[in-house]
Amino acid sequence: MPQKIRVAVVGLGFGAEFIPIYQRHPDAELYAVCQRSEEKLHAVGAQFGVERRYADYEELLKDPNVDAVHINTPIAAHAPMSLAALRAGKHAACTVPMATTVDECLQIAQAERASGKVYMMMETAVYTREFLYVQEMVQQGKLGKLQFLRGSHQQNMSLPGWPAYWYGMPPMHYATHAVGPLLHLAGKRAESVVCFGSGRIRDEYVQPYGSPFAVESALVKLGDSDLACEVTRSLFDTIRQYRESFDVYGTERSFEWEQLIGDKAVVYSGFEDAERVEVPDYGHRLPKEIGSFTKAGVYDEEHEHTSFIQGGGHGGSHPHLVHEFVSAIKEGRKTAVDAATAANWTMTGVCAHESAMKGGERIAIPQ
Ligand SMILES: NC(=O)c1ccc[n+]([C@@H]2O[C@H](COP(=O)([O-])OP(=O)(O)OC[C@H]3O[C@@H](n4cnc5c(N)ncnc54)[C@H](O)[C@@H]3O)[C@@H](O)[C@H]2O)c1
Repeated sequence: MPQKIRVAVVGLGFGAEFIPIYQRHPDAELYAVCQRSEEKLHAVGAQFGVERRYADYEELLKDPNVDAVHINTPIAAHAPMSLAALRAGKHAACTVPMATTVDECLQIAQAERASGKVYMMMETAVYTREFLYVQEMVQQGKLGKLQFLRGSHQQNMSLPGWPAYWYGMPPMHYATHAVGPLLHLAGKRAESVVCFGSGRIRDEYVQPYGSPFAVESALVKLGDSDLACEVTRSLFDTIRQYRESFDVYGTERSFEWEQLIGDKAVVYSGFEDAERVEVPDYGHRLPKEIGSFTKAGVYDEEHEHTSFIQGGGHGGSHPHLVHEFVSAIKEGRKTAVDAATAANWTMTGVCAHESAMKGGERIAIPQ
């Protein structure tokens, strides 16, 4: 293992935002970038001073100097690219979701095990300030015994300008932002799911994936636990521009975020107390070279219609994701969102959509 982990960032839309973080991380070297269209490849390479540039992912994987890839390509490519990386002996980080089928999820979990390499699903929602704040409270026992968790990710993508593959996507196929925080806080796996579809999107959106629902809403039973949680997703023809949020209810305290746009989170305690809280930043947990990236973000400038709500760097998560991936490789351990964990979070959504398509049948999530 070289002194620094040599990383290649693959897919340079959203992915480009991670380049300067790897460049400054003390244990990483941003070695290469990869992107299919040469024009953008060279533009991004020049912008960040990255000399090694690949237009062909297979060629990138043949480069023995690449230790790790961070994949940010369109959703259908996540699973095949992650599998190819692990099978080529590279560590693999991939943006959400891990995959769109149960079979792909299981294959990646198997490939992680067989390769002995590190896999991480780069789930922004479990490194936001709000998440880290509640995680700290849970770890300190401040919530008491957890009683229920609720997650929602609503977005209205019925606007022109998104990559074509989005239109009509089953909402629960992109559910990890809503599922991940709940399962991570509970420290449990999802065991089974019941989901109902609600409403109907316009016919031209139904056609590509055969998914008619405007909203999908699920109840998830956790394994080895008395907990259940609730997950709601919407993507098209439902007016709520953006909300990524979760609520956690405990015997001592409860936490709710974000009911109304721009509202601060609320911590409830005792029988009458409710306090709006200023959630702190967690940049101090990171190496000093990348700590300030919790407050930076360039991606949203490209998607102006969501920028005012999503904020820079998805709640400050990006440098935390990079640090966890690089540290796990360096320390020879699994990541906090390893393949088995990512598979469970992703399959919860995939199985929820299956349940909705079957009128609410209970679906067991493969373990
Ligand atoms: N909060 C989050 O976690 C979050 C936020 C935004 C986007 N994302 C995810 O990031 C991914 C990328 O998002 P985007 O908006 O940049 O999408 P996009 O479709 O605009 O961009 C994907 C990029 O990958 C490149 N690409 C496609 N096929 C490739 C291949 N075979 N080899 C190399 N490069 C290839 C494309 O040229 C493009 O630059 C999506 O899967 C999306 O779900 C996650």
